[in-house]
Amino acid sequence: MLKKAEVILAAGGEKRVAKQHESGKMTARERIAALLDEGSFVELDRFVRHRCYNFGQEKKELPGEGVTTGYGTIDGRLVYVFAQDFTVEGGSLGEMHAAKIVKVQRLALKMGAPLVGLNDSGGARIQEAIDALAGYGKIFFENTIASGVVPQISAIMGPSAGGAVYSPALTDFIYMVKNTSKMFITGPAVVKSVTGEDVTQEQLGGAMTHNSTSGVAHFAAENDEDCLQQIRYLLSFLPSNNVEGAPIVETGDDPMRTDDSLNTLLPDNSNQAYDMYDVIKSIVDNGEFYENQKYWATNIITCFARMDGQTVGIIANQPKVMAGCLDINASDKSARFIRFCDAFGIPLLNLVDVPGFLPGCNQEYGGIIRHGAKMLYAYSEATVPKITLVTRKAYGGSYLAMCSQDLGADQVIAWPTAEIAVMGPAGAANIIFRKDPDVEAKTKEYIDNFATPYQAAMRGMVDMVIEPKNTRPTIINALQMLESKRETRPAKRHGNIPL
Ligand code: HXC
Repeated sequence: MLKKAEVILAAGGEKRVAKQHESGKMTARERIAALLDEGSFVELDRFVRHRCYNFGQEKKELPGEGVTTGYGTIDGRLVYVFAQDFTVEGGSLGEMHAAKIVKVQRLALKMGAPLVGLNDSGGARIQEAIDALAGYGKIFFENTIASGVVPQISAIMGPSAGGAVYSPALTDFIYMVKNTSKMFITGPAVVKSVTGEDVTQEQLGGAMTHNSTSGVAHFAAENDEDCLQQIRYLLSFLPSNNVEGAPIVETGDDPMRTDDSLNTLLPDNSNQAYDMYDVIKSIVDNGEFYENQKYWATNIITCFARMDGQTVGIIANQPKVMAGCLDINASDKSARFIRFCDAFGIPLLNLVDVPGFLPGCNQEYGGIIRHGAKMLYAYSEATVPKITLVTRKAYGGSYLAMCSQDLGADQVIAWPTAEIAVMGPAGAANIIFRKDPDVEAKTKEYIDNFATPYQAAMRGMVDMVIEPKNTRPTIINALQMLESKRETRPAKRHGNIPL
């Protein structure tokens, strides 16, 4: 082997590699090997060198420029990858480090293959000053151009601080590794000096902070190995680009399978909760699904699953959390997921049990109008097959926001327990029967006539009312019917989604 190559493969040297391992982290090359199919990695730009003359940097050899880049396969499909090497100058990003990343970004776009970025970096290489900033700018630009064309996945596997956080933020999914990964625009010391707050790195930007509080991250991993295996799993649901279909997988689950337990899943009292995960598990292939943003905005569930081997994106209200109300975070979470699925041709399955948008000053001051509008926009804009199943409540604006027929649902299916109405019986009675001496009888009349799927079905807004046990075969049949769906929109530069 070339001597030069040996030096590069030794990365930051034994001591720094040992420190990396001691802190529970793999090295950049170990991560790539664990991510890709065995032996499939082809490295690019191994001999790239920085050209910085500030602060004596010219004498410094930085193996691989602190980032390993190239391509390989995951489940036999082409994937591009970069892995920042914390053992080399803290994985910091200079001009040529950035150039290596930009090269794989461009190749991924040209070849229509996903890009996986493994981030572990002290941020802009301070000695390279403006060249480092320019490098970030180029990366952000390529992230944006590739958005909606190839899936982009970021794993935060160490520090990611300062403006560096914005490359992951521009990608489709962010993974964070518990305990070892941190993301923030400024660290605890600056926070203390500016706002006076005392906060640890973990509290400010640890994996669970961003998975459960800020909604910045989409997935949490126990350790590096788990993170890399989860990325492989996610990619198994996704197409390589926006013109290819997602892989069809032989799951062995009978598409005609019915499930009697769904007939009795809903409680008699419609104000009582049930677990929407039970519906999802019952209808998808082998009860298997992969949940996006599992710890954030848990009043709505977003996940990938397969039905008769075909990937679907599921958006489901969760009656167990806040009665399944839509709020600001649920709107943001679902709108982004809907747009990802639409960009990559993944059919949408909407499971609806929603009493309304969450009322109150907090929500209004936070802009629930602006955020809720994202859902309306995302569903209306989406041209992939859209199937809506109403299990129980679908009231008012939230009925529309969960993709009613008017927002372009191709097939609307209801259980007999569906209550599709302008508002819930109690609220309605309070307004229209307030002065009626027999308010109770009138409320019952409202429930009998309006808290059903049949008003909507009579107007053709519900295509079919089905016995719950038949949900899986009905949806799979709809998906098959919609396979040839073609829908276009007027040409425009781009729309203006409420942000
Ligand atoms: C140059 C850096 C560096 C950086 C780390 N190193 N960050 N070198 N530029 N940004 C070097 C260290 O000097 C050290 O070199 C080695 O990497 C390992 O760093 P340590 O500090 O020893 O590691 P650790 O104790 O684990 O701390 C990690 C860290 C800390 C928390 C990330 O290094 C740190 O705070 N770095 C600076 C973070 C930062 O402020 N970055 C700039 C942000 S501004 P030796 O030779 O001793 O091994 C920014 C703007 C981007 O990123 C804007 C984009 C739009």
